[in-house]
Amino acid sequence: MTPLDHYPTIDLGPLMKGLVIGGLGIFHVFLAQFAIGGGMLLCYLQWRHMQGVCRLARRFTDDYFKLLVLVSFVLGAVTGVAMWFTSIQISPRTIGTMVHEFHWVWATEWTFFCLEVVAGYLFYRYGPRLPDRTRLQLLVLYAFASWMSLFWINGILSWQLTPGGWLENHNVWAGFFNPGFLPSLIFRTISAAAIAALAACTLVNAVPGFTREERQSLVAVCARPLVFMLAMPLVGAWYLGTMPADSRGWATGGSVPMTLFLTMAVGSSTLIGLYAVLAILRQRLYVNGATASLLLALAFVATAGGEFVREGVRKPFTIREYLYSNSIARDGVADLRRRGSTTDDPYPLRDQADYPNEQLVLGAKVFRAQCSVCHTLDGMNAIAELAATWSIDQRRLNIAQLQRTKPFMPPFAGTPAEVEAIVQLIGWRHAGRPADWALSEDPAVLAQIERWLEEAGTGPGNARLALGARRQ
Ligand code: HEC
Repeated sequence: MTPLDHYPTIDLGPLMKGLVIGGLGIFHVFLAQFAIGGGMLLCYLQWRHMQGVCRLARRFTDDYFKLLVLVSFVLGAVTGVAMWFTSIQISPRTIGTMVHEFHWVWATEWTFFCLEVVAGYLFYRYGPRLPDRTRLQLLVLYAFASWMSLFWINGILSWQLTPGGWLENHNVWAGFFNPGFLPSLIFRTISAAAIAALAACTLVNAVPGFTREERQSLVAVCARPLVFMLAMPLVGAWYLGTMPADSRGWATGGSVPMTLFLTMAVGSSTLIGLYAVLAILRQRLYVNGATASLLLALAFVATAGGEFVREGVRKPFTIREYLYSNSIARDGVADLRRRGSTTDDPYPLRDQADYPNEQLVLGAKVFRAQCSVCHTLDGMNAIAELAATWSIDQRRLNIAQLQRTKPFMPPFAGTPAEVEAIVQLIGWRHAGRPADWALSEDPAVLAQIERWLEEAGTGPGNARLALGARRQ
């Protein structure tokens, strides 16, 4: 693997690139899990209907399916395409590696997705006229195909966080059946079932034509899958247990935002689970539209928190121990320290003419290559703000030793001149971008930066440093 491949990159201005993918990912995951859980719930409803237990189920199935088709096929597909579209622009190398290593897995996943679409369409088109047995068969096919697409994609996503044996031999199956594969698959299946159940409870209240008793009996059936949430604490703990220690450390106190997101996810899931088991399933309380939508909103919060944690705790990697979040190969840092991270970058800056000297242009290119996936110049997580209170030497030291400054940042992967260029860029922007800016070329400064770079080494920072002393 080359240390760094340059691709034309997108500039999202004040929006943090990583957050754009993360935010979109949350919607996509929520919708996709809804579709998967929906398939399972529809099978269950149809089966109850055929047993003669729930005579309304067939009618409701047809209503529910329309929503499922609309929501999951249209919105799910649109956000899915949007995910590809943004990730190839923001992190082309990560997605490139994912496609390269797992192309047959992707192909298999897409095959199941096609099957899901076909089965779904057939049910949508002919379902209401088909005999019960055929309906059930079609729904089982739909549910199976959609769960299988989760199965395949889950292997690739969990591999990013826990690549396991793949790191040694690059064996596809070692990567696919990585340590996080099973807990993540079970956890997502339970979440999918819960989301679908809550969506169904909301819908029962929203479709016209059912009496209150009928609604009550439907809610009682639709809410059943929520009982699986009882297993969530155990599966969640198992999942956390498979994570690398430093990742787990971020989510359990090491990083305040990550810990908050995890708390948010655990808190919302606990509330849903408790209400579901105690109120709905045990006391057989009726869930009205407002309560059901509130619970569904909580499920969204839980998904959002969970996905943020999953994406966030991978830092400083997008593929653990292999590829840093800024698309620099872990093994390539030492090489880039000599060659520079911008030497082979063929792309000009969009606003190159605005910079008063070459050093600042270099600084902006280094920023683009190494920092822009997590920082902006002026907007969210803006770099000049973060380093605002530091003296110039603190800026030099803390950027040269980036992985020690905050261990969820990758090591600096460039020359001492590149460190100085970015330090100058920060100073210039902080000074309000004056039209004149002197070059900083003191060899003694560069030699000092070089010593700092060497002292920090080329590996990632570690968890102990993250939780311990922070230098300002
Ligand atoms: C993997 C994502 C990531 C990359 C890549 C990254 N950073 Fe950061 N950086 C962060 C996060 C997250 C913070 C914490 C922000 C906060 O505390 O609010 C941070 C904080 C900082 C800070 C403030 C540190 C402190 O102690 O307050 C500076 C300065 C900084 N980064 C500079 C850089 C520079 C320069 C680069 C590129 C050479 C870079 N970062 C690359 C994620 C990243």
